[in-house]
This record gives sequence, structure tokens and C-alpha cells, in this order.
Amino acid sequence: IPPPPLYYSPFPTGQQVPLTPKNESWSFPSDFWWGVAGAAFQIEGAAKDEGRGPSVWDALTRVTNHIVDNSTADVADNNYYMYKEDISRLAAQGVKIYSFSLSWSRILPFGRGPVNQQAIDHYNDLINTCIEYGVEPSVTLYHWDTPLVLQDTYGGWLSEDIVPDFVEYARIAFEAFGDRVSKWYTVNEPIVFCNQYPLPAQYFKNFTIPNKQQPFHCGQSVLLAHSQAYHVGKSILGDHSSITYKNNGGYKIPLTNSSADAQAVQRAWDFNEGWFSDPVYLTGDYPESVKEYVSGFLRDFTDEEKQQILGSSDFYAHDAYTAQFYMAPDSGLDSCIGNVTHPLYPSCANTTYTYSAEDGGWVIGPAADPGSPWLHKATDWVPAFLKYMQDTWVTPSPGPVKGVAVTEFGFAEPFEGSKTLLQDILYDAVRTSYYHDYMEAILMAIAEGTDVVGCLAWSFVDNFEWQQGYASRFGMQYVNFSDPALPRYYKASFFEYINAFKIYGSEG
Ligand code: NOJ
Repeated sequence: IPPPPLYYSPFPTGQQVPLTPKNESWSFPSDFWWGVAGAAFQIEGAAKDEGRGPSVWDALTRVTNHIVDNSTADVADNNYYMYKEDISRLAAQGVKIYSFSLSWSRILPFGRGPVNQQAIDHYNDLINTCIEYGVEPSVTLYHWDTPLVLQDTYGGWLSEDIVPDFVEYARIAFEAFGDRVSKWYTVNEPIVFCNQYPLPAQYFKNFTIPNKQQPFHCGQSVLLAHSQAYHVGKSILGDHSSITYKNNGGYKIPLTNSSADAQAVQRAWDFNEGWFSDPVYLTGDYPESVKEYVSGFLRDFTDEEKQQILGSSDFYAHDAYTAQFYMAPDSGLDSCIGNVTHPLYPSCANTTYTYSAEDGGWVIGPAADPGSPWLHKATDWVPAFLKYMQDTWVTPSPGPVKGVAVTEFGFAEPFEGSKTLLQDILYDAVRTSYYHDYMEAILMAIAEGTDVVGCLAWSFVDNFEWQQGYASRFGMQYVNFSDPALPRYYKASFFEYINAFKIYGSEG
């Protein structure tokens, strides 16, 4: 296979996307950090090896038809055994940071109690391998794989009983790895894993909390667990460390300039990002609209808890993949494709989410359908989004928060799964364009004065994409899952991503 050209056309004609000339006024600040990310459950495999206990996701993969291809992550990328190869392949590309998550049920097979020394040894070796290869290891404590026993015992995140268990797990990890890891994330995307409640009733013990309230009970435990873990972490790691959590969500654009659509957008910010960001960055408590919604069934945070929550983050970390249009349902735009009302927020009933037909509702570009009115390049929305986060949560925060980081961004290229030729799979034109545009968008934001401190691409390798199983591929490396050796191959997008730092970074 010849070395890949810089750009691959997303268009069937083979026409090349024109190369944007280098913009001399753009550059990454010298302390800008960047790398790639993955998560334990999605890549490790070795599900029953070396003392690992089961997690809720092991159970979810046993619920018939819960995963589109009914696959499990028992083997996944076999990264538990192939981490040295994986790290060396990152180092070979000059990747600076490898962000991974620890498996809680590997370290504490029973969720609490005895520590599995084999797991500690494994992660020690993984971290040391990163360091030997000149790649900075970065850790997420919780990426959705709650030890199953804690789910069965008290409902996992539905119960505040999880708080001391999580904090103890965090303490074990900070103490074991904190001498070599300085960037930490407590939890990944609470909006997503809290909205996963209620879990499928046919398998999971049915706790008595009404369905629509469950996500908010989860959120309450998350804020308590995160903030306590943050303070424990700071006391162990000291001030040179950075600890935060990863929030997520798309940029929210009103479909029209009506006030009803503006309200719909504000509600969407409140019930998504604001749910976790307002407490941590602004007030120690939920946005007013959320408070009102939960007032009948959630206890208030105590003053002491609010104090602990407010300021429990060193930088604003956001997984920002895309943007969406929002509209009030009565704005009557017939041409909207696929209106979906969020099932969990009855008080947001005036918020209808509009999705474009392509790409699962993602507003991306230049993308597969250049004619679609819904598609925009990352440069159209990422700079505005980064500035929005800075203006809304970073600048007004009384806490120590420094800047905004995009801790996940990436793209599952449509139709990649139906490609059969290796060279076609590796020439991932649309994902390549996505990374190209996204990096330009970050550079634009920096040039406009937004304090963007770092970024992590999702993901460094194809992996188990939760309910999408192996059908949806976010990897910048292809994995042939039909080959038991699970070989990895760089896709063109990987080169494109790295290239941005060569052109605009200190590597110059
Ligand atoms: C967010 C999640 O953190 C990650 O686990 C997932 O694979 C990607 N987004 C892509 O959906």
C-alpha cells in the first residue's frame, strides 16, 4: 500500500478535497496537549482473566438484542494482552498522550473489599510502557463499567451507597498510579451513563425508583462521588496534577431565531451539560430548571456538599463530537427529518430534537451528503461551541478551572462496515475530512482567543461501541475482528490528525 496522500475524497468520483493552504496566523500554544483515547471495556477483552469481576456491561451484552450485533466485549481488541503493541503503534506516530480507563471490576472484583494485585500489576506495566515509549499516560477512573455486584446490591449509581465505594476505588488508583499519571478524569460522560437507567428489567434487579427519576438519582451520586474523589485525589497527588470529569454533548443550535426555539435550546443546555457543569463550575447546585424538575424526588445537596462540588475541576473537559438543531415542536418545519422527543424529560416536552437523516444526526462536514442543508463543517460550529463553554462555565467559575479541553472527538464513518477491500477501509475519506476540519476549528478558536488547552481523538482503534457492538467504528486504526490475531492497521485519518500538529505545532 503506497503512503497515503493527505486527503481522500468523500465523493465517489475520486475528486480530491482541496488542501487548505497553511494559515500562518494559526498555531498551537507550546503547552497545548494532545493525544488519543480509549476505554477499558471497549478494548481490553480478557473479561474473565486474571481475577477480573463482571461489570454491568458484561451483563448488558448478555441481554438478547440489547447490542445490535449481539456481540460481547469478552475479547474486544484483546488490548489487555496487546497493550505493548498498541502503545508502540501510538509512539510510532508521535502521539503525545494515551488516555485510557481503568476497569473498576478488575481492580476490585467485588466493587469494594479485596484489591486484585494482578490488575494493579497490569496497569503499572501499561503505564510504565507508555513512559518508556515517551507517551504520557492519562487515566479515567470510570468509563461506564460499574462492578456488577454493586448494581445488584444497591442499584449502582441509583444509590448514594456507591459514593464511598467509588471514592475508595479512586483512592486506591491515585495511590497506585499517581506518581506517574498527572491528568485524571473521575467519570466519563455522566449524561450518557445516567440516561442509560433504567437498565433492561429482564436482567437487572428492579429497584423501586420510578423510571423517569432514575437518571437524576444517578446524577446526584455522580456529583457527590466525583467531587469527593477530586478532593481525595488532590490531597494525594498535590497541585501539579489535573483532575476533572468528562462532560459531553453537541453544540446546540436553534433551528430558527424564534424565542420558542431559543427556549428549547436553553432547556437542552440545562438538562444536558448544565446538569453536571453548573454544579461543578458555577454554583454547587443544578440549574434552576433542573432543580425545579427534581425537587419532588431528590434531596437537596447540603451546604457542605455544595461547597465540595463547586470548584472540583482543574479544567473544563468536554467530549464534543457534533452539533444538533433544536426547535420547539410548534415551529412547524415540515422538512425536519426524524423528530425525536427525549423520553426522559417530560418537562422538556417543548423540546424536539431534529436529526438529519445522515450520520445519526451529526452536523458534520464536508461529509457524505454535501447537498444536505443540515451538514456543516466543524469550522462552522466548533469555535462557537468552545467559546460558549469558556464563556458559560470557565470564565465565570470561582473555581480553579483552567481552559477548555476537547477530551473526545471523532467520527464513525457511514458505510465503513460494508467496505470489503482493505485499501478502501484504510482510505477513510469522510473521517479524514472530519479530523482535518476539526483541527482547523480548534486552531481558529485559539486564534480567536478561546483558551483551548488540549484535545484527545476518539478513538485510536476500532472497538466495542456499546449498543452498536462492532458495527460502528470510530477507530483511526482498523481492526480485522474476523482474524483471531486482531491485526491493527492505521487508517488515513490517523495521519491527518497527526499532521495538524506537525503543521501548526511546536514540532513545526
Ligand atoms: C463517547 C464515549 O465516551 C465512548 O465510549 C464512545 O465510544 C464514543 N463516545 C463514541 O460514541
